[in-house]
Amino acid sequence: MSEVVVTRTVPEAALAALRDVADVRVCDQDRPLTPEELRAAVRGADGVVTMLHDRIDGEFVEAVGPQLKVVANVAVGYDNIDVPAVTERGVAITNTPGVLTDATADLAFGLLLSVTRRLGEGERLLRSRTPWNFHLGFMLGTGLQGKTLGIVGLGGIGQAVARRARAFGMHIAYSGRRRAAQEVEAELDARHLSQDELLRTADVLSLHCPLNEHTHHLIDGAALARMKPTAIVVNTSRGPVIDEKALAEALKDGRVAGAALDVFENEPEVEPGLLELDNVAIAPHLGSATTETRTAMAELAARNVAAVLTGQPPLTPVTA
Ligand code: DGY
Repeated sequence: MSEVVVTRTVPEAALAALRDVADVRVCDQDRPLTPEELRAAVRGADGVVTMLHDRIDGEFVEAVGPQLKVVANVAVGYDNIDVPAVTERGVAITNTPGVLTDATADLAFGLLLSVTRRLGEGERLLRSRTPWNFHLGFMLGTGLQGKTLGIVGLGGIGQAVARRARAFGMHIAYSGRRRAAQEVEAELDARHLSQDELLRTADVLSLHCPLNEHTHHLIDGAALARMKPTAIVVNTSRGPVIDEKALAEALKDGRVAGAALDVFENEPEVEPGLLELDNVAIAPHLGSATTETRTAMAELAARNVAAVLTGQPPLTPVTA
């Protein structure tokens, strides 16, 4: 029977179909494996189910051995994988698109509301037992109705966030290397803008692009300087899309009004400057963190591995 290693605990039910076709070993330590531990754990396996913190490159594939056929990442993002290096060694790569779209869009919108309506700040006030009383000027936030949501990357998650924004009465603009399909633009009444126009126009800028060499520090000091001082930045994609130090400085100096962040440049570390600011809503990479979604992600990864090991095409392949 084929051997498969899963690098972190996943919901057991998700592995049922895979256990029919392979011996599955789950690494159940409570932290990411170091690169050395990862190689040692997977050596000799035919397939591996990986997490977004596992670095998978040519060296890894060679250490595991020539029998390795598939790397199934339990994430839609796959910036942890050197796709050309793994593919050229004849190993299939898969990810988990689609199943986490709504959960991630919900979280992006929740964090946005948290920062615009000062929910975290209000909670901190109450928990610190600070005296307060209702008055008309108390803890005023900002409404979203009639504001423009600028989306960087109108893929599945970007579209799902745009749908939620439309229900809140927002206008939609987007930038991206590729223009969205006409039906998508029509449904969302979405305007395609250049990156520069989007930065200048957005009241809320929400990032939904993959992390790669084109998007690393896409939102740096220069980009932040083009934004409205009233703008809010939302990031549920990958931390390094934003230059976090530049963002912390811009927020502190009032050059942008707020940020809603689920991902960080050096996870699990968070730029200390951000932690000191009340105009930042933060979460520890919870975009897809619902029981239903995490189970669906693990199940899709397991089904991808089972497909490859039984000679079928992968369900959701990543190609170089
Ligand atoms: C992904 O799937 O890429 C997310 O960041 C993990 O939830």
